[in-house]
Amino acid sequence: MQDLFELAISTAEVASVMLVDKRPADLGVAYTKSSSTDVVTEMDKASERLIIDRIRAARPGDAFLGEESGASGGSSGVRWIVDPIDGTVNYLYGLPDWSVSIAAEVDGEVVVGVVAVPMRGELFTAARGRGATLVREDGSTRRLGCNTGVTLDKALVATGFGYAVDRRAHQAETLQRVLPRVRDIRRSGSAAVDLCSVAAGRVDAYYERGPQEWDFAAGALVVREAGGTVGGLNGEPPSPELTIAAGPGLFGPLHDLLAEAGAARG
Ligand code: IPD
Ligand code: CA
Repeated sequence: MQDLFELAISTAEVASVMLVDKRPADLGVAYTKSSSTDVVTEMDKASERLIIDRIRAARPGDAFLGEESGASGGSSGVRWIVDPIDGTVNYLYGLPDWSVSIAAEVDGEVVVGVVAVPMRGELFTAARGRGATLVREDGSTRRLGCNTGVTLDKALVATGFGYAVDRRAHQAETLQRVLPRVRDIRRSGSAAVDLCSVAAGRVDAYYERGPQEWDFAAGALVVREAGGTVGGLNGEPPSPELTIAAGPGLFGPLHDLLAEAGAARG
């Protein structure tokens, strides 16, 4: 596991440097009128290529699931789950909350999760059974722990919205039911960052309908290793149907509110 952990960290760091250095200085609002999507898609692809090539060079028998390149098989029992830029709209606009998310699974279980947030100089890491840590650019580290003892009405809850119009309309309906029952809502623009924020106690919970495995694989381990719970509806694992993450005591009440609000429909 230590090898996978170190490889995930060094690869996320290399990809982060590439994404910061190669981001066109004039990317942003001007690009949104013409070729924005293409530029960001190109950076997404370049990041994923770099990540997969680097890991494959060290471990030729491993399998991959990447947002850009899909699934590829392997023979080692290890599978890497990669989101090369989570928070692409933030990357486009020059907002800081975008991340590189890399998880390693052994025999179907995520054992390593790394989320790099380059513009914040932060690296969130977790290894199964070993806890979760925030490593800062200056080398300082902090053991992560979710907030505890938070009631639903006092909870600061992160969420996200999909890209499809119908999905977003339904998510707005869910939000109408959730917002009056919690302290407030945050929308960072990166599911992986949201999950790490739960682990760091910067928000109390996160929920979203629609996130894919590459969005939550690494961040979910970071939350669990920080003492939190991650799941879907009625004891299901987290999935595109619904992903909920919260500290102890809050998961249940938030789950019930989301079930009542029909969050997994639409
Ligand atoms: C998106 C972000 C966003 C979430 C969306 C994701 P992308 O990923 O994580 O916060 O709300 O569901 O698709 O497209 O930026 O990689
Ligand atoms: Ca993503």
